[in-house]
Amino acid sequence: MDIHSHVVPSGDDGVASESEGLDLIRLAAERGTRAIYGTPHVWPIDGLREAREAAVRAAHERMREVASASGVDLQLGFEVTPVPERHDEDPERYRLGDLNAVLVEVPFRGPIGLPFDYGDFVEDAGFLPILAHPERSDAVLADPSHVREARERGWLIQLNGSSILGQHGRAERNLAWKLLHDGLVDLVASDGHRASRPPFLDETRHALVERLGDAADLLLDGSNLAPARQTGACATGM
Ligand SMILES: [Fe+2]
Repeated sequence: MDIHSHVVPSGDDGVASESEGLDLIRLAAERGTRAIYGTPHVWPIDGLREAREAAVRAAHERMREVASASGVDLQLGFEVTPVPERHDEDPERYRLGDLNAVLVEVPFRGPIGLPFDYGDFVEDAGFLPILAHPERSDAVLADPSHVREARERGWLIQLNGSSILGQHGRAERNLAWKLLHDGLVDLVASDGHRASRPPFLDETRHALVERLGDAADLLLDGSNLAPARQTGACATGM
């Protein structure tokens, strides 16, 4: 399962067309992926304007049937970059498809308070925050205890396979493996954007199995999403 990808076109830096996204989905299926969440960016400046949202949802509807024929369940969510303006909106709009969860980006730069504030907001609205790629954040690289703090709140932590493979640099790779060995990771996803940064997880899985054994598959098969499959999971203190 790939909980974070940019295979649904939305005018951001993900795939440029439905056919490009579907080609990548088909190739991902050949490498063992059975479910992909397309998570277009909701960036700070424009947010998600209505016309863009309508186009994204229509593209997803069309792509879903084709993906299904490839054996892939294509779900739609969003990757929300946290800024105070997002607190004016119901997070329901950004939920991850069939999950009671919202994917909250931990920005590469900037204060860690923003994702924590938005995570609190999402949780208060009854959704489980999933923090996206904290290992790529300067603030977390400087102080990895933020990950433990988020997890102690019951939030889920998602790392990028590309970080685990060292494609974003040594510091990110080292932090990713430290978090994995410390048992602080719930999900590993591709964050795939395009053919040059594809939504594949097979190589990542091999690396994880080599070092973590059977525990690797729990990071990739959606097992750890159980709290996000319960209605009102956060309200019960998960
Ligand atoms: Fe992303």
